[in-house]
Amino acid sequence: LNIGVLVSGGGTNLQAIIDETLAGNINGKVKVVISNKENAYGLERARQNNIDAIFETDEDGIIDVLKEHNIDLVVLAGYLKIISPKFVNEFRNKMINIHPSLIPSFCGKGYYGQKVHQGVIDYGAKVTGATVHFVDEGADTGPIIMQETVVVKDNDDASSLAKRVLEIEHKILKKSISLFCENKLSIHGRRVFINE
Ligand code: GRF
Repeated sequence: LNIGVLVSGGGTNLQAIIDETLAGNINGKVKVVISNKENAYGLERARQNNIDAIFETDEDGIIDVLKEHNIDLVVLAGYLKIISPKFVNEFRNKMINIHPSLIPSFCGKGYYGQKVHQGVIDYGAKVTGATVHFVDEGADTGPIIMQETVVVKDNDDASSLAKRVLEIEHKILKKSISLFCENKLSIHGRRVFINE
């Protein structure tokens, strides 16, 4: 399958996907990386791997680029913009997002990047984690594909916790994409089942 990845920052999730496709563990190829930030290092990672790297802020432009590349799966990997209902409709159940908490906790408007982990620590939560989900009209509200937990340590701060959660993000994002590309995910209403 043809994969398109949207990034806004460093792109470590993108790098994990690229590495996994090169290792032959994903039955797909990253065909294009699009960012709404011109200097996003994720675009540089694409260039380093001879993948089309496109700076685009207009959503219609992004949709056109994805269609021109015959994209079958859109991955939001550290992409910090809301997806409009029109965009969701164009790729319904073919667009997934990685979020650095256990949805429905610490997600939605205002919860992104380090703010998520600071929220977890300030609240006094003992367990956090990461979630991969299909994108629907809401913010971080689509059907959940996969989650994995990370224990919060007493001496954690936002950055030490972010570091451990990021490793789990990479792990479950790669696995989720691999399952999607093997057509092993089925959606029943809000629930996603893996047909291993
Ligand atoms: C990280 O905060 C990650 O939790 C979230 O987006 C941010 C950047 O990820 N998914 P990446 O390194 O750009 O993939």
